[in-house]
Amino acid sequence: MTLTVIVLAAGGGTRMKSKTPKVLHEVGGRSMLGHVLAAVRELEPARVVTVVGHQREQVAAHIQQLDPTCVLAVQEQQLGTGHAVRVAVDALGIAASHEGTVLIAYGDTPLLRAESLRRFAAEHEAAQRAVSILSGVVDDPAGYGRIVRDEEGEVVAIVEDKDATPELREIAEINSGILAFEASFLAEVLPRIGNDNAKGEFYLTDAISLAREAGMTVGAYPIEDVAEIAGANDRAQLAELGRELNRRIVTGWMREGVTVMDPATTWIDADVRLAADVTVLPGTQLLGATVIAEDAVVGPDTTLKDCEVGAGARVVRTHGELAVVGDSATVGPFSYLRPGTVLGAAGKIGAFVETKNARISAEAKVPHLSYVGDAEIGEGTNIGAGTIFANYDGVAKHRTTVGKHAKTGSNNTFVAPVTIGDGAATGGGTVVRGEVPPGALAVSAGPLRIIEGWAISKRAGTAQAEAAAAAGAQPAPRATGQENNRRT
Ligand code: UD1
Ligand code: CA
Repeated sequence: MTLTVIVLAAGGGTRMKSKTPKVLHEVGGRSMLGHVLAAVRELEPARVVTVVGHQREQVAAHIQQLDPTCVLAVQEQQLGTGHAVRVAVDALGIAASHEGTVLIAYGDTPLLRAESLRRFAAEHEAAQRAVSILSGVVDDPAGYGRIVRDEEGEVVAIVEDKDATPELREIAEINSGILAFEASFLAEVLPRIGNDNAKGEFYLTDAISLAREAGMTVGAYPIEDVAEIAGANDRAQLAELGRELNRRIVTGWMREGVTVMDPATTWIDADVRLAADVTVLPGTQLLGATVIAEDAVVGPDTTLKDCEVGAGARVVRTHGELAVVGDSATVGPFSYLRPGTVLGAAGKIGAFVETKNARISAEAKVPHLSYVGDAEIGEGTNIGAGTIFANYDGVAKHRTTVGKHAKTGSNNTFVAPVTIGDGAATGGGTVVRGEVPPGALAVSAGPLRIIEGWAISKRAGTAQAEAAAAAGAQPAPRATGQENNRRT
């Protein structure tokens, strides 16, 4: 049957107290609306329309990005859910002659699963009802529309909280807001919904009693897991939903063969992909579109956003974004991988190393205390401790290329643009400003100068001078006009 989905997202969300529209607030690395649209897409509906209103430019731009095929319907004034759906139905041109199913969902229920929607739509279609309600039996039904059933248990109406008698308020079965309509009935009933109620709004839920009055069939299906229909109205609820979503994602990966040592301190976004036998250690956040291959160990205390980690790699106490770590490579502890970092197989980025836009080839190593920006490092090369790739001259960025199997000394500065050839070497403290040919040794530090007796003469009376004297140092000979020093 042809399926059309209408997502309502025109409401204000004032309790968020935010300049960001409510449905654009994020949990699990996606906006709440993004989660709903992703679940909806899995049903492969013929058409999806989202009703926007409040801050519609922002919401519409977001939807365009997520799903350019989604139709947008603008509800100028938020006159109620019945009115919102009417706007959508008008935008789609659904007439009373239409066949198929129209599913209504809200843009602020991020835990809703495609599977639950699919089952609900199937139940609705199999029962051939005019309208079906995805209901939920909850501990605290306050605020929700209640499902009113007759003695036979048949649904007769949804009564909104504000319009309910104390007796009806006792009903624990509530309307999730997710409804399925037979398209022709929806088109026919919408113009008949009025706004004579406590809120003065056009309630979509009035369609239930109108269907019953017309002798049509109505049904309600309680969802097993009520968290799926929970919405977030303020940021406290948003955080709760975020934690629950994370709990579900982390549990899901553990069931797929991922070891998570501490689920409570592990955060995994909805779009992350993990292979079996990945190990995630405590305090780790895997965000965005991060992908981790089998046998890799990530953490503790690591944040990776949009990163790719190869099989058997090890990433310890690291912050990374848009970086690729090759198979069996090691990173950390305390490494900062910035966008464009690509570390080859069995390569190493070690402690206190920052990298950006840097391709470090297979088995190449940058083990300690270095900055590598705008660089290419060849296979098997070792970069000495404390090396700075000085890529920025204050105006423009320049590249450094280091060849294969080169060995550069500690505390070097490569003042880019620099090229160091295959098999070349540099001495400790070298400042490289140009080209080092393949196989050459570059040394730029001057000869070491020793000025004997300097501490005793120039720092007389200090602990330094005393220590020097105690170790047998003599004062510097009297100045002869010539400096008394020796070179080595
Ligand atoms: C609605 C239902 C209630 C249900 C509850 C579940 C009605 C009349 N009531 O109540 O039975 O238990 O949801 O959460 O349908 N919206 C628009 N345009 C509008 C009004 C609302 O797009 O003019 C959107 C909102 O952005 C929101 C959703 O529709 O996403 C629900 O609207 P809201 O006003 O929150 O309805 P409730 O009073 O919570
Ligand atoms: Ca609501």
